[in-house]
Amino acid sequence: MTAPGELVGPLEPLAAGVARALVVDDEPSVRHALRRILAQMGFATIEAGDGGEAVSLLERDGTPTLVVSDLRMPGIDGLGLLRIVRERWPDTSVVMLSGMAETSVAIECLQEGAADFLLKPVSVGELQERVTRVLEKRALVQQNRFYQQYLERRVAEQAERIRELFLEGVQLLARALEAKDAYTRGHSIRVSRYAVATAERLGLSGLALDHIRLGGELHDIGKIGTREALLHKPSALTPEERSQIAEHPALGEQMLQPIARESPTVLRIVRSHHERIDGRGFPDGLAGPQIPMEARIVAVADSFDAMTTLRPYRAPLTPEAAIEELTRVAGSQLDADAVAAFAAAFPDPTLLPLSA
Ligand SMILES: [Fe+2]
Repeated sequence: MTAPGELVGPLEPLAAGVARALVVDDEPSVRHALRRILAQMGFATIEAGDGGEAVSLLERDGTPTLVVSDLRMPGIDGLGLLRIVRERWPDTSVVMLSGMAETSVAIECLQEGAADFLLKPVSVGELQERVTRVLEKRALVQQNRFYQQYLERRVAEQAERIRELFLEGVQLLARALEAKDAYTRGHSIRVSRYAVATAERLGLSGLALDHIRLGGELHDIGKIGTREALLHKPSALTPEERSQIAEHPALGEQMLQPIARESPTVLRIVRSHHERIDGRGFPDGLAGPQIPMEARIVAVADSFDAMTTLRPYRAPLTPEAAIEELTRVAGSQLDADAVAAFAAAFPDPTLLPLSA
């Protein structure tokens, strides 16, 4: 037989490891007998003469492992007490005792959540055996709950780890994609830093900034699917080549589907960073406020970095000239607030471009 003390599970509120039992009966002699039997089993016992007193004791002294209660009592009777305990202290097992051999009463008690139902008079052996079984069942329920919570936590941790590994992978991919090309090396990191500074100026903080940081870093990830010859072409692109390059935002969004649920903003940035305020951008031709704010911010950062770095087909603009150009296209190509915030975030353009 397992002693009650050993059944203290991982969720057991009692620190001492000694199980407590509350005996509730309006007959002092019955209470005395029950307490003696339960004490022999290793319980620390307390007692109450009716349901109301029992509730007061529970409120004052906290949750016992076990309540053994008579059914017929003045005031709050056994069934009333059972309902209260099940609702307020669900980890406590309740064993009901009754002098009435009515099946319907027993069924009602069990339906209300009693752990067991015993008829008086109860022998010492029977009570001990039934209580032991109740405790074993209780321990199993608690263990199950513990393992379920443990497993849920482990699954959540694993999912988070998978997400981190995926992100590390795509971030490395984004950098590897740029590293091959002297013209774009460090572009994503710079865009990310410009975009975060701009977003801070616009009053964004916390998670919103994290999304912009990541969205800035990954905005061109879809270019992995674009032919390199097109990306580095020194002359003007044909309409067909242009439409091939225009596929990279949607492709990037597709690649990032594994983080779509946790970070939908990042996907919106990647998809919409080439939209224009006047609706003439791609891939969706969104206009003005239809374009997610975060994508409008990254578009400003992206444009600035593209203008201030050397490209195969043109020399870089100075930061001052680039900011002038951003201001010129504010309201048509770029979001005016985002351009103003960018200019305010970098009041001394001679410090630009930021090194990646
Ligand atoms: Fe792009």
